[in-house]
Amino acid sequence: TTPLIIDTDPGVDDAFALALAAASPEVDLIGVTTVFGNVSPELTTRNALRVLALLDREDVPVAAGAARPLVHPQPHVSKAHGSDGLSGFADTLPEPTRGPDPRDAVTLLKDLLTAADRPVTIAPIGPLTNIALLLAAHPGLRAKIARLVVMGGGIRGGNVTAAAEFNLWCDPEAARRVLVGAEVPVTLVPMDLTRRCAVSAAWLAELGAASEVGAKLVGLTPDYLATYRKFLGWDGMALHDAVAVAEAVRPGILATRRFPVDVECAFGPGRGGLLVDERLEHADRPGIDVAVDADLDGLRGFVLDRLRALGVR
Ligand code: BDR
Ligand code: CA
Repeated sequence: TTPLIIDTDPGVDDAFALALAAASPEVDLIGVTTVFGNVSPELTTRNALRVLALLDREDVPVAAGAARPLVHPQPHVSKAHGSDGLSGFADTLPEPTRGPDPRDAVTLLKDLLTAADRPVTIAPIGPLTNIALLLAAHPGLRAKIARLVVMGGGIRGGNVTAAAEFNLWCDPEAARRVLVGAEVPVTLVPMDLTRRCAVSAAWLAELGAASEVGAKLVGLTPDYLATYRKFLGWDGMALHDAVAVAEAVRPGILATRRFPVDVECAFGPGRGGLLVDERLEHADRPGIDVAVDADLDGLRGFVLDRLRALGVR
């Protein structure tokens, strides 16, 4: 099994991503770190604890991390996840029986990496602030990181602005620090692909019927679904973060291509945007693996099968 740490800002799709990790025998979820993003760090931490309580994984330490971006303050914009971060349904999840780990996120990451007997996969599925801080503060631990599987960026445009996807937009400087000249192997799962992997109401109904845990997860989605209907005219929703965790659990489930990338950090309409250099004459420059395709039905089936098994005795 591969040790896995999830760095997250729950978040409806983050909840599905945590559930997928908990349901996957290929990985050992050894820690969860939280970051500001969809809501305040207090709420993302509380939500992570609640989701782990739902999953009966209160053994996993949860440490709170960055409350703000590295350099420039950013106004709060996320509306998709409601004021509590779980579309108004956080209270439907079990009350955690424990609090967060006393360590901050970077310290927990450092301790877990140091103690690990093999390289650890980290799946950052929120703003990249904690990961940028980790790489800057503990460069000697890079060898203990097998891979970062990051959900973020949009190759052909964003969701917060025309240019920027939410996770990169929240902290462009941190994203640049992590993704450009990456000092560890990185697989980036952009919103172009995660949107193509959207799941339908029928998919959700199947999950909801499978178990109490499935029903609780699906119970978080009505408002999130309504947002997709309103803004994109869809009858379904993207599981963004769960797509990245699927790749962390089963390397190669997404097809990737290696590209040099950059993140726009200038102030202007492009701030937070991902730049993917597809020019062939630049192909030999250092790059990261960008997820560009997948067997979409196979992937939806994989996630559904895993989540359906949760809480079924
Ligand atoms: C990303 O933004 C957040 O709202 C989601 O949880 C996901 O990580 C998608 O752009
Ligand atoms: Ca997220």
